Amino acid sequence: MWENLEIGLEKASQEQLKEKPSQDGLGFGAHFTDHMFLMKWDRERGWHDAKICPYHKFMLDPAAMVFHYGQAIFEGMKAYKGNKEQVYLFRPQDNIERMNVSALRLCMPRLPVEKVFKGLKALVYLDRDWIPTVPGATLYIRPTMIAVEPALGVRPSGQYYFFIIMCPVGSYYPEGFGPTKIYVTDKYARAVKGGVGDVKTSGNYAASIMAAQEAHQAGYTQVLWLDACEHKYVEEVGTSNIFFMINDELVTPPLGGSILPGITRDSVIQLARKWGLKVVEKPITIDEVIESSSNGTLSEAFGTGTAAVISPVGEFCYQNQTYVINGGQTGTLSQRLFDELQAIQSGQLEDPFKWMTRVG
Ligand code: COI
Repeated sequence: MWENLEIGLEKASQEQLKEKPSQDGLGFGAHFTDHMFLMKWDRERGWHDAKICPYHKFMLDPAAMVFHYGQAIFEGMKAYKGNKEQVYLFRPQDNIERMNVSALRLCMPRLPVEKVFKGLKALVYLDRDWIPTVPGATLYIRPTMIAVEPALGVRPSGQYYFFIIMCPVGSYYPEGFGPTKIYVTDKYARAVKGGVGDVKTSGNYAASIMAAQEAHQAGYTQVLWLDACEHKYVEEVGTSNIFFMINDELVTPPLGGSILPGITRDSVIQLARKWGLKVVEKPITIDEVIESSSNGTLSEAFGTGTAAVISPVGEFCYQNQTYVINGGQTGTLSQRLFDELQAIQSGQLEDPFKWMTRVG
């Protein structure tokens, strides 16, 4: 596992090892494992000093460019344990490739894919005892790149850190896999074509917080985003992609430049097509969603994302009007997709798409 890595390994001492939290009620993003991966970049040396080391704090200059101009990108992926303690990652190469697309858009350096992949696998293997085994809990993995050159002035930084941290998590939403309540906003917008909505950069999330906060205050779990120009077309829900089952079609907005190309989104499309469902990537307006909800042809809606996996929508509110979907219950398709994805991810079901990478 450690040979030919060209990656340093500094294991945590006995004193540095942390106490693992109880697997029940883990919540999301509150606990971090014993180790992390860290690699640095500068113009002279390119990527260098790659190592797996104890999880630790950074000392950054207050002028580090990430604080001022937001050159920060990240990914989310998960590791799972099979019933014989095998360790798997779900579509990790897709995350690394997507991060390189984000890096290109933000004028950040391209990641050495092979090295990152090796480092990722070694890190997950080293901290494998942190992978939860109770149903619904997993190890969430957060690769991140930030600009660290201490300088003011808007231009690409000359120095970066790339790191991977990991945390054992339960469900992303307090509802668990239960249906969420969604607030459709026509006041705020998430992204515009030509902007950065289709890459995973931190600023997108910062810009979404106010809308999410107002939705929470109104009693809703998340925001449904419409297009920024006309506030007419559905784009995403919260931090996830969105699907609607209308008549016999599973409809999701196309990747037109302002929507994140979700890996779970793509997996759902592939799974549903394999089951013989008609999946259509086409623009869908909020009026069409309302009409199909009102005339009974909208049977289900759900969000897809790494953190939330499948999150059924039980109700949405648009312009002070509430619409209930499927009686506020989790639909059969959402449940089937959730079950099948989880079974593939934990190695209980055959993996026909070759999505899983065995780590150890
Ligand atoms: C994910 O689904 O992995 C995300 O990155 C969303 C969120 C936790 C920010």
